[in-house]
Amino acid sequence: MSATIIDGKAYAAGLRGRIAGAVADLGRQGIRPGLAVVLVGEDPASQIYVRSKARLTVEVGMASFEHVLPATASEAELLALVARLNADPTVDGILVQLPLPKQIDAQKVIEAIDPAKDVDGFHPVNAGRLMTGVPGFVSCTPLGCLLLIQSVRRDLAGLDAVVIGRSNIVGKPMAQLLLAQSCTVTVAHSRTRDLPEVCRRADILVAAVGRPEMVRGGWIKPGAVVIDVGINRVPDPAAGEGRTRIVGDVAYGEAAAVASAITPVPGGVGPMTIACLLRNTLEAACRRRG
Ligand code: GUN
Repeated sequence: MSATIIDGKAYAAGLRGRIAGAVADLGRQGIRPGLAVVLVGEDPASQIYVRSKARLTVEVGMASFEHVLPATASEAELLALVARLNADPTVDGILVQLPLPKQIDAQKVIEAIDPAKDVDGFHPVNAGRLMTGVPGFVSCTPLGCLLLIQSVRRDLAGLDAVVIGRSNIVGKPMAQLLLAQSCTVTVAHSRTRDLPEVCRRADILVAAVGRPEMVRGGWIKPGAVVIDVGINRVPDPAAGEGRTRIVGDVAYGEAAAVASAITPVPGGVGPMTIACLLRNTLEAACRRRG
């Protein structure tokens, strides 16, 4: 079997195009959705994320507000900025880029964001809404994963889904989304016994562990849909001394020989995260001002 390659880059571009159309419609009513992104410090990976978020926000026609605080900023300073953004009527969505410096309690900051502007879906109110089946904001990466799964399997009811990873940002909300689609969900993690055997039961396998190529071809049920959330930089001696390449949590070549559909890394889940952030921001604008 040769798997369908799920083209997240193309799907995300299409989604952003549909969002741009909806933003243009809102513009005719005098509404311009706005997304505020807060970066604390100078982490290079975070700077890249924030820059591409800002570029794509503007590309779909929304207003982008960037706030950069020094790495030495206090928790009180960041909480004061969040309070200002909560009160600002031109801001529909607020995203505080993680990780935050050690002196700042990230959970306290997340809980300070108005749940109606929490387009990351990290606030406990939104996490609770997802768990109880009430409309709210869903964390962008798992939401993107679900859209990609549904692009190849419409009806997920009754399927066995295995999510590897139990983070608040990916694993737990992913499990809730699949449960809401009536999958039978197993959440596996670092203490799971016989992980390969657990994975072999999965019709839908989502890997979000951050361990390069951990999931092998022999762990995959023939015909499964495999979603690889991992973005891991590894040495690439074939490309030359000191060179690196990006791989996922799944051994792609082995897995693609067994699965029915699989996301590549890069170009799979990654591009969906920002597209879903823009989708959440559009929804926040419609709910607040529509
Ligand atoms: N850091 C890495 N990914 C994310 C994300 O999706 N949201 C936020 N706020 N920080 C991140």
